[in-house]
Amino acid sequence: MYIINHTGYSKDDILRNGNRFLIGNGYYGYRGTLDEHTKDEMVQFNLNGIYDQVGDADRESINAFNPLYTVIKYEGEEVSVRNLSPFKHEQQLDMKDGCVTRKTVFHVKDALLTIESERFADQNHKNSIYAKYWFQSTKPLEIDLSSGIDTLVYGASGAHLKNVEFEQMDKFFIFKATSKEKKKEIIVMETCTTSFGIEPENEVGDGKALHHYHIKMVPDQIYVIYKFAGVVHEEENGMEKLFFQLTRAMSLGYSVCHRQNRKYWADKWDVSGVDISGDQEADTAIKNCIYHLISVRPSSDKVSIPTRGLSGQIYKGAVFWDAEIFMLPFYLNTDIESARHIIKYRIGGLKGALAKAKQYGYPGAFYARESQDEGFEASSEYHLTDPETGAPIRNYFREKQIHINSAIIYALKQYLFRTDDVSVLLEGGLEMVFECCRFYANYATYNEAMDRYEIQDVVGPDEYHERVNNNAYTNYMIKFSFDFLFECLRLSRGADYPYVREYMKDKTESSDKIKEVRSKLYLPVPNADGIIEQFDGYFKLEDATVKDVKRRLKNPNEYMGGETGVATSTRVIKQADVVALLVLQRDLFPIDIMKKNYEYYVDRTEHSSSLSAPMHCLLANLIDDPESALPFFMKSATIDITGVSNQYSGGIYVGGTHPGSSGGSYISLVYGFAALEHHGYQLSADYRLPKAFNSLEFKIIVKDYIANVKVRRNSVEIKWEDLL
Ligand code: BGC
Repeated sequence: MYIINHTGYSKDDILRNGNRFLIGNGYYGYRGTLDEHTKDEMVQFNLNGIYDQVGDADRESINAFNPLYTVIKYEGEEVSVRNLSPFKHEQQLDMKDGCVTRKTVFHVKDALLTIESERFADQNHKNSIYAKYWFQSTKPLEIDLSSGIDTLVYGASGAHLKNVEFEQMDKFFIFKATSKEKKKEIIVMETCTTSFGIEPENEVGDGKALHHYHIKMVPDQIYVIYKFAGVVHEEENGMEKLFFQLTRAMSLGYSVCHRQNRKYWADKWDVSGVDISGDQEADTAIKNCIYHLISVRPSSDKVSIPTRGLSGQIYKGAVFWDAEIFMLPFYLNTDIESARHIIKYRIGGLKGALAKAKQYGYPGAFYARESQDEGFEASSEYHLTDPETGAPIRNYFREKQIHINSAIIYALKQYLFRTDDVSVLLEGGLEMVFECCRFYANYATYNEAMDRYEIQDVVGPDEYHERVNNNAYTNYMIKFSFDFLFECLRLSRGADYPYVREYMKDKTESSDKIKEVRSKLYLPVPNADGIIEQFDGYFKLEDATVKDVKRRLKNPNEYMGGETGVATSTRVIKQADVVALLVLQRDLFPIDIMKKNYEYYVDRTEHSSSLSAPMHCLLANLIDDPESALPFFMKSATIDITGVSNQYSGGIYVGGTHPGSSGGSYISLVYGFAALEHHGYQLSADYRLPKAFNSLEFKIIVKDYIANVKVRRNSVEIKWEDLL
């Protein structure tokens, strides 16, 4: 099932529907608000990879002006959900062709006025967006239709655009503005065509440029307006190219543009689709995940995927480890170009990572927890607030979450292994790995008594327990990073690339230090009960249940971790931590250790990060328990349909879409329930389907082949076809 529906209109649904009915193409996202909505309803035409800071507020992604604004007035009053209760209202997303529609019926005088619209993000020309808006009345009605660009846009941490200039070129409205901090130019363009042949009166004022049409509606006649719009920033001759593109689109007509877009989606679904038979809810859920992953695929090496996709300024539009660990595998399997962008974005971010390490007094690279352009760290020391008092809470996510480096290295290894594209190593990849490892080697502390190196004072994936020593996840991921560095050096040395020789010649001292730490790095092992202690002293904490700890909250939005949180002195953790280690390094421990750790940690985990469920789903599958895995899959895969997720954390709005969950759900199916494993050109799979599934089908790009994998209740079939 490719349809997501919502009927009825309530103000309380605006935020969730904004996410549910999001459209995008990796260059921008456009929230699923309605045509007449404004910044009050959080309309956001959110741009990827361009950020701005106002004063001391958070530096966040920028929203462009809204070119789809359209409203009908009757006798000077808006016929809109903003001031009238509609008689009927429905919104729908057709994931098959990335199209969002709405249908609303209003009582106006003695008539029924029906307003419908649809919109889609151009997948072939990333700057463009299109909409069709049509309406009809059961009785004669004299109305005013206004459509154009609304420049009064939502900004979570302030207004980011200044020097707003308007111009008109042919039939196009054009607004130009610059970002406040870095003075980057952003241009929004819009024009309309109509079915009713009335020349509009154009008006610019009150933050809007509008085409006005006065229409004497004839009963049952359909009046249509088509909108051709777009946004551009930074690209050379961007404005001219956009103008050309939109003029061309206009001459082709809306339907042709729509058809071309449908073709794009059809081809995409063909290679990326996953079909689950037997469980329709699961099937729709995974399609929704894939829809969102396609809609946020990065469009260049300068961008990756923000943690809330392009659904707005939540989490500042920044990129977290979610992109590498949870999202990348989808692209590795279906869209190598986007996978490469994800890797190259981090290589480009080395600049920011070197600066961050230096800031904290270390050599090497320390990647941002919340990465913006060029790897700039957006995480602040006071990320959260107390919802009761509004007082800021000190967190150490920025300074101590050193595991981010290893996620990036883990991703690079997968990318190389899957694509054989060693060019990324020579285009800065090797340097990136080396500098990350150099940082790790210098971060490590030598414990003389034990003759070992320890990793002290960190925050692992479980963010509730800050500044802990020897977080098992972090230590093992550092070991992984060191091993990979030497693997790369070995590979590169054999090939004798001049770049590598040049690069390594003055790095001997650092390599020696890395070798030393690598050989004596402390790696926590399971205790007598088979449990890996999450960090030193974890077993000494109070063994309270999640329920007990939650009962201690004074406010439901109160932050549970950090220095004063109710979970801090207990073994209750935020998200998969040891569980994540066992999933990512699944060959390290035997299945009975995996099982014991799953059972131990699953009930002590609050799962409040949306990244927790997919890791538990995967581990439940690895220990051959698909029935326990299924609820985790459903929780994770339905998150952007149901909207059931943490909306606030420590007083901060953290809603939005969850591409990390989407990617995690995809991995859960492919590597969990279908037990897929890669062996160079070969694949193996197994059947671990829960009872609810009859079969699971998907395609995987394996170098120059495509594998068609079909897992049934008691069989696996892999059919190969040429990619080229
Ligand atoms: C999680 C992090 C995650 C971030 C963004 C936090 O709640 O603890 O692991 O990277 O959300 O998804």
